[in-house]
Amino acid sequence: MRRVQAQVEASLARALPPGEAIPARLHQAMRYATLNGGKRVRPLLVFAAGEVSEAPSGRLEVAACAVELIHSYSLVHDDLPCMDDDVLRRGRATCHVEFDEPTALLVGDSLQSLAFELLARADPGDPGRQVEMVYLLARASGSCGMAGGQAIDLDSVGRQLTQPELELMHALKTGALIRAAVLLGALCGQRLAADEREALDRFAKRAGLLFQVVDDILDCTASTATLGKTAGKDAAAAKPTYVSLMGLDGARELAADLREQAIDALGSLGERGRRLAELTDFITQRKF
Ligand code: IPE
Ligand code: IPE
Ligand code: MG
Ligand code: MG
Ligand code: MG
Repeated sequence: MRRVQAQVEASLARALPPGEAIPARLHQAMRYATLNGGKRVRPLLVFAAGEVSEAPSGRLEVAACAVELIHSYSLVHDDLPCMDDDVLRRGRATCHVEFDEPTALLVGDSLQSLAFELLARADPGDPGRQVEMVYLLARASGSCGMAGGQAIDLDSVGRQLTQPELELMHALKTGALIRAAVLLGALCGQRLAADEREALDRFAKRAGLLFQVVDDILDCTASTATLGKTAGKDAAAAKPTYVSLMGLDGARELAADLREQAIDALGSLGERGRRLAELTDFITQRKF
């Protein structure tokens, strides 16, 4: 994990424009919002899925950076006063607090564009595959993916959603990008058989939902110091979460079920799915 994290860290630092390049303040803010100690779970998933298709490390690096840039953009916008209004992220002031709101808005826009710039410039060996990757990431980020989930999230404040409604919101706002990380990683290597692709997709959907269920649990069980973001925000902002829907024990049971379902889905992949299974445990057991 540390090796992949270091590789992605260095690659992101190269891909982002230098802080001196004009407009310097925007570029400094982009670097501030990206190179700041995220767990890099999505890049880890890209590389782990790449083990299933025996993908080369260079291609995985590009896909991992593209997904992480979209994720970092989503966090910058998620923290804005018009959304979750958060002042702390990854243990530091949020981008709009450290810089200003217009800059944070443009940071999000620019990180999103940079993600697609990287994917479009890379040599995937096969242009058809490159287009497929751009399509998957675009679809996972937009109104039928992350941004759509965020819209449902904002629209749901103060309401109690049904379990299917909550599952849809989580599957979109967080699950879609996690799923894209897995599918892009696999696409970097050899073409998989249809049943292998289906198994990976089943895994990715369960793991994506699991990730947000654990995020909901941590929001009300971990401290601000450990999380590096303000704890207890969901309840304070009257957000519907798995904890508000089914209680802490219910959410923990669901997380355990989803972990098992995700790992079961990897069954047919044998040893090639081992790293994804290990990451599923990491996602379940993480403390922040
Ligand atoms: C937090 O994501 C936001 C969600 C989508 C739940 P992470 O927990 O992956 O945040 P970082 O990247 O490690 O800061
Ligand atoms: C964030 O969900 C999802 C996206 C950023 C797309 P949250 O609002 O729960 O994430 P945190 O808890 O602020 O990291
Ligand atoms: Mg939010
Ligand atoms: Mg938030
Ligand atoms: Mg949260």
